[in-house]
Amino acid sequence: MNIVVGNVKGGVGKTTSSVYLAAAAAARGREAVFLVDSDPQGSAAEWFEQNPVEGVELIEAPSERTVVRALSNSDGIVVVDTPPGDERIVRAALRRADAVIIPTRAGGVEPSRVLATLEMTPADIACGIVVCAARLGTNDLEATVEDWSNAKVPVWGVIPERVAIASGPAGRIYREGLEAYQEVLRKVMRAVR
Ligand SMILES: Nc1ncnc2c1ncn2[C@@H]1O[C@H](COP(=O)(O)OP(=O)(O)OP(=O)(O)O)[C@@H](O)[C@H]1O
Ligand SMILES: [Mg+2]
Repeated sequence: MNIVVGNVKGGVGKTTSSVYLAAAAAARGREAVFLVDSDPQGSAAEWFEQNPVEGVELIEAPSERTVVRALSNSDGIVVVDTPPGDERIVRAALRRADAVIIPTRAGGVEPSRVLATLEMTPADIACGIVVCAARLGTNDLEATVEDWSNAKVPVWGVIPERVAIASGPAGRIYREGLEAYQEVLRKVMRAVR
């Protein structure tokens, strides 16, 4: 199963979500789990250099050609982190996705970039958004979740803003974050099957 994490906007939580989702997949202990880093910046690869996630194999695939290959011949669960800028890499990944997760933030200019990402995704592929670094209990967050539900875009998760998640590769996989992404993964699996 190929799970592509994408949003044409930068800095929304793609890499964080990819690493945590791969960790959540590995925690199932059933399938082989691969994290494909298709971002030429190599943020996920850097993360793994500092702090590899047990049970997850990292594959660097920073080009259209390499990402196509990484998504063509693996069994198990493949999570793909995509770059914010390189549309060709993103499109190549989206075409081979079984499910697409679009990380976003609450409020502001976010919806237009989510919609742009949805438009790039082939119509028959399951898509859902994950609100990252969310401030729980705020009106902004409530309005965002309601707007997406009204727009018939499933909200697969709301990940709270936590210092331990923000520390990224400098810290360990943070338990509360892992649990939130395990719930996202369950929603993905349900949407795909
Ligand atoms: N739940 C969270 N709580 C706190 N900080 C978070 C959370 N999720 C993401 N962040 C922080 O938000 C910032 C952007 O996250 P991340 O690098 O994952 O985004 P990205 O979409 O991959 O960025 P880019 O487009 O540059 O690749 C990082 O500093 C990250 O630590
Ligand atoms: Mg990134």
